[in-house]
Amino acid sequence: MPSVYLETYGCQMNLADSELIVGQLARAGYDRVPDPAAADVILINTCAIREHAEERVLGRVGDLARHKLRRPHVQIGLAGCMAQHMRDRLLGEASQLDFVVGPDSYRRLPVLLAGGDPFVDVRLERDETYADLSPLREDGVRAWITVMRGCDKFCTFCIVPYVRGRERSLAADAVIAQVEAAANAGYREVVFLGQTVNAYRDRDVDFGRLLRRAAGVDGIARIRFTSPHPSDMSEPVIEALATGGKICPQLHLPLQSGSDRVLARMERGYGVDDYLTLVERLRAAVPGIALSSDIIVGFPGESDDDLEATLELMRAVRFDNAFMFKYSRREHTKAAKWEETVSEDEKGRRLQAVIALQERVAAEINAALVGQEVEVLVEGPARRRAAWLAGKTPQFKTTVFPDQGAAPGELVHVRVTETTAHTLVASG
Ligand code: 5AD
Ligand code: SF4
Repeated sequence: MPSVYLETYGCQMNLADSELIVGQLARAGYDRVPDPAAADVILINTCAIREHAEERVLGRVGDLARHKLRRPHVQIGLAGCMAQHMRDRLLGEASQLDFVVGPDSYRRLPVLLAGGDPFVDVRLERDETYADLSPLREDGVRAWITVMRGCDKFCTFCIVPYVRGRERSLAADAVIAQVEAAANAGYREVVFLGQTVNAYRDRDVDFGRLLRRAAGVDGIARIRFTSPHPSDMSEPVIEALATGGKICPQLHLPLQSGSDRVLARMERGYGVDDYLTLVERLRAAVPGIALSSDIIVGFPGESDDDLEATLELMRAVRFDNAFMFKYSRREHTKAAKWEETVSEDEKGRRLQAVIALQERVAAEINAALVGQEVEVLVEGPARRRAAWLAGKTPQFKTTVFPDQGAAPGELVHVRVTETTAHTLVASG
């Protein structure tokens, strides 16, 4: 039996794509192995969102290529966004690579590998959704289900529309079939994925209706989704969140900047007031909703005042969690043509400022939970404490508590005793 070793970088979409790739290769007779030294095919599923992500992968290709020295038949290749981005350059520069395969070419992968020759397949397809392929999921309690692919928004900093192509949704029936399959396989939670997941549409089924249909599937206890775009946060989606029940009170709502001037140059399609109004509507409709966000500092033209506006908005909204990044210039994008006005050092200082604020706010929000009872979906042993378990609350907060015999997939109620900015500590 041929074997494949697969490593994944980047977002949850990429992890879900890796499960698709493994499923596709398994059907063609490949066995997944945890050690590259035992693999016939070595595959790295890559991310291109920031330059740093690409540098890490290129380093890793160098490490993994040594497996070809003693076993020259090994085929080593890149999949995903960076493969799409660097296409031709990759086989030339890093000549250790045998193949490069873009996000819309995984269906063809087994056939291409069987050919034995080096190949580049990076054709983007308007309608590839992989709806009919079954992913081979990792064990666990949470199943990630890609419901739409690609992005049509073209924010000026972002490479995603260029490497993942146009927006397209899976048929609603195919999504529900995947939710049912996940439930039958024992998963308790599903997370719908898409680059702008709430832009989902299959004829008359919008994202709100899709969520409600998923909530009707027996065996699934929790439903989440990521990442929605603020401009697509329509009333039906808010109503679906407000029905409560299985649809969890948690939303990742990427802000990017708190300055109207910067948001306009990012071409995000909303301003500060729109965002604040949306947050108010969400908090009114879904009591206790946890909000998280993405923030970029050092975008071309970002002034001290713009940064202050971002900090101000973060203080006003008070996110439960945030992912914060230094702007990274990406080829092909509109912003790539603009002069970078913020030095690397200054980007670093601005990043530290937003991180410090966010850490303080998150610590305060969590500290207010001490004494409350929370419902935790048990995932398994806690990473850092022996004889403790870990899981997530409906608000997606990691919670650890002493192991009193609960099995993964069980819902338990525990009381919060201590907190940090990122974790709740609880007792039975
Ligand atoms: N530089 C820095 N951060 C970026 N992101 C996307 N493109 C870039 C870029 N060029 C961030 C955004 C997005 C998250 C997934 O990655 O905040 O929401
Ligand atoms: Fe990138 Fe904007 Fe599309 Fe998100 S919505 S993937 S930031 S272009």
